[in-house]
Parts: sequence; structure tokens; C-alpha cells
Amino acid sequence: MGLNSLSAAAILDGLDTQFVGRKVVYWPEIGSTNDEARRLAGEGAPEGALVITDYQSKGRGRLDRSWVAPRASSLLMSIVFRPELAAHQVQRLTMSCGLAVAGAIELQTSLSAGLKWPNDVVIGGAKAGGILTEIELEGAQVEFAVVGIGLNVNLDPALLPADLPMPATSLCHELGTDVARLPLLWTLLQKIEERYSVLKAGQSPHVEWAGRLVTLGKAVTVSATGSVLNGTAEGVDADGALLVRLADGRLEKVFAGDVSARGLG
Ligand code: ATP
Ligand code: BTN
Repeated sequence: MGLNSLSAAAILDGLDTQFVGRKVVYWPEIGSTNDEARRLAGEGAPEGALVITDYQSKGRGRLDRSWVAPRASSLLMSIVFRPELAAHQVQRLTMSCGLAVAGAIELQTSLSAGLKWPNDVVIGGAKAGGILTEIELEGAQVEFAVVGIGLNVNLDPALLPADLPMPATSLCHELGTDVARLPLLWTLLQKIEERYSVLKAGQSPHVEWAGRLVTLGKAVTVSATGSVLNGTAEGVDADGALLVRLADGRLEKVFAGDVSARGLG
């Protein structure tokens, strides 16, 4: 299983990027790669620095929900960025990385991948991965951002907790065969770098992102800062906010950061 076994040397060996993953820290086991990447970013780690592991004892989703992955079953990683974005624009980074994940899956396998607002990767109606973007601010600007990616590669969904809000799947579960993690990782890091360059040039990926969202056109229920909204997801704006058409005809803008979303596709 040479192409499935992670180490810093093996990752660097096949990496075809300028900066994403060029500094790589691999841990056989860690609490959360996001925590470690944030720590390194605070110490000045360069843009593109990658923290990757085979096992997390404290993997996190949004709102401190836990991210669970049996050892060596997944890609579990975090990347440091220093984008010139205001805090309200940071979902642009999540969108870019979500598109990179979907693109890498489709380049490396025969599967089609979708995205679910605001941060999930889905295949055939089940959750195959998620993105957790966390930022450190300097005033209203982002000092650094850490994008954490969890992708179920060779994971048996039956081993996950039974009470997940949405059914889980993995690439292997969908394909009926294992997927080597290293080539998938190399492609993913390359796609992330490509998309980050576009982002840096000032372009939001929201139009392409909207095209991949399984959420649009669906009835949604969103609990945002105390209130519950019911409506139809109509679109997204350049910063990734969801545009929800309410029953009374009003269009409400819902920001990812404010929301505990359920029933979004
Ligand atoms: P939202 O759609 O608002 O992002 P969410 O519940 O899908 O909500 P998070 O808030 O980021 O996403 O929380 C992570 C969720 O993923 C938790 O609900 C958790 O139960 C679920 N989960 C944990 N590990 C896995 C996994 N390996 N595969 C799929 N889902 C998982
Ligand atoms: C989501 O649930 O949609 C986001 C999950 C993000 C999980 C990844 S795994 C690598 C990184 N480290 C963490 O603790 N979380 C992210």
C-alpha cells in the first residue's frame, strides 16, 4: 500500500505545487490538525503550510461538533493561508477549497461530488467530507485562516456513530474498492493552490460553487442567532451567504457563521 501510507517524505515526493503543502507536518496521531495549524500559523508558519494526520482524538466540525474517523481511513488535514480578505469574505476560502475537494474526487475517481451549504462535501445524498475554516483577525482583516478538510476515503460508514444528522459515506463505500490516499492528496493540494490563486486575484468562486450546491432549489430550515427561518434556498452571494426566499416573498440573507443549519439538502 505504498500510495496509501502517509509521511512527510512521501507527500513531498509526488507533490506538484509551488507553496501548498511545501511545508508539511505529519503526525501519526494528533488532537485536531486545525488546532496544530493555528498554533503554527501563530508562530509565523508560511502560507500553504500543511498539517496532516492519520488519526485525530479531538477532530472538530463547526459549532464544536465532533469529526470522527477511524485510523488511516481518511484525509484529515489543515492548511494555513494568509489571504487579503475581510472577515465577512472568509467563506470564499471555504468555497474555493470545497470546489477543490470535489474536483480532486472527480479527477481521481469515477464519482460525482456535490457540495452542501455551507461546508459539506456530499456524494449521492450522503456526507463524504467537510471543511472547517477558522480565522484569526487583525482588526476587521484576516491575519491568517486555517482550512481544515476531512474527507472519508477508505472509511466504513457503519463504524461511525449511528446518530449523525446526515448519513455518511466514503469514496471506498461508493466505489466498492479502496482509493490510494497519496495521489488523491497530491491532486487536492494542486487544485487548492490553483483555486487560491484565483481567489488572491480578487475573484469569488461563488458562481461555480452555486453550480455544485445540492442545497439550491430545496426547502430549508435555518436557525440563525435565535430565530428559525423556513423558505426555499434560491442562491448565494459573492461571500457565500445563502439567499432564502421566505413564505411571505421576502429574500433573507443567511451567513454561514451565524447558522446551525439543518435540512439543507
Ligand atoms: P452544517 O450542515 O450546518 O455544517 P453539519 O452537522 O453537517 O452541519 P458540522 O456542523 O461541521 O456539520 O459538524 C460536523 C458534523 O459531521 C457532525 O454533525 C458530525 O456528527 C458529522 N460527522 C462526524 N464525523 C463524520 C464523518 N467522518 N463523516 C460524515 N459526517 C461526520
Ligand atoms: C464538517 O463537519 O463539515 C467539517 C469537518 C471538518 C473536519 C476536519 S478533519 C481535519 C480538520 N481538523 C479538525 O479538527 N477538523 C477538520
